[in-house]
Amino acid sequence: MKKGLFITFEGIDGCGKTTQIELLKNSLEKQGENVLLTREPGAKGLGEKLREILLNYEGDVSSNCESFLFLADRAQHIDTIIKPAIDKGVIVICDRHTDSTVAYQGYGRGLDLKQIHYLNNIATNGIKPDLTFILDIDVETSLERIGKARDRMESAGIDFFNRVRKGYIEISRQEPERAKLINGKDSIENIHSQIIKHISEF
Ligand code: TMP
Repeated sequence: MKKGLFITFEGIDGCGKTTQIELLKNSLEKQGENVLLTREPGAKGLGEKLREILLNYEGDVSSNCESFLFLADRAQHIDTIIKPAIDKGVIVICDRHTDSTVAYQGYGRGLDLKQIHYLNNIATNGIKPDLTFILDIDVETSLERIGKARDRMESAGIDFFNRVRKGYIEISRQEPERAKLINGKDSIENIHSQIIKHISEF
C-alpha cells in the first residue's frame, strides 16, 4: 500500500519549477517531513546517460524513439527511486513526470495520446502522482527566460511550445483534482502559498 506522497511539477521550459520545488522542499522539511527531490529525465545513474542523449544528441531522433527514451528513464526511475521512497513514507517531489510526455510528445510532437497514456502506465506500473503543479507561462516569456543557449528540446520552436502549453492546459482541465494549473507569472511568494494551500487541502 502507498504510504508517502508523490508530488510532480510540470510546465514549459523556464516556467519557474526549480525555484518552487526548492521552496516547497525547504518548507516541508521545516515541518519535519522527509523529502526526496528528484527529476525526469535523469535522476541518477542510467537516467543521467539517457538525459544526456535526450537533451544533447545532435543527430536525428525520431519522435517515437524520443518517447521511448523518456519512458525508459521513467521506468527505471519509478522502480529504483520513486516507488522505494514512497513505500518508506517519504514525500517525493519530482521535477517532470508523465504529463511531460503527454504535453511534449503527445501535444507537441503530435503522437497518439491514447498510446502515450498506455505506455506511461506501463512505465510507472500504474503509480500516479497525488498532486501535480503545472506552472503556466506564455511561450514568449519561456523563450526569453531560456535565453540563447538551448538544448535539443528547447530548440523545438515557438509553434511546438504553444502546442505543449495547450497540452498542459488540457491536462489540468481533464484532471482538475490532481493537476493544478498555476499562473507562473505570479510572484514567487504567491505561487508558493498556492502550492502550500493545495497540499494542505489534499
Ligand atoms: P528540464 O529537466 O530542464 O526541465 O528538461 C527536460 C526537457 O525534456 C524539457 O524540455 C522537457 C523534455 N521532456 C519531454 O519532452 N518529455 C518527457 O517525458 C520529459 C520528462 C521531459
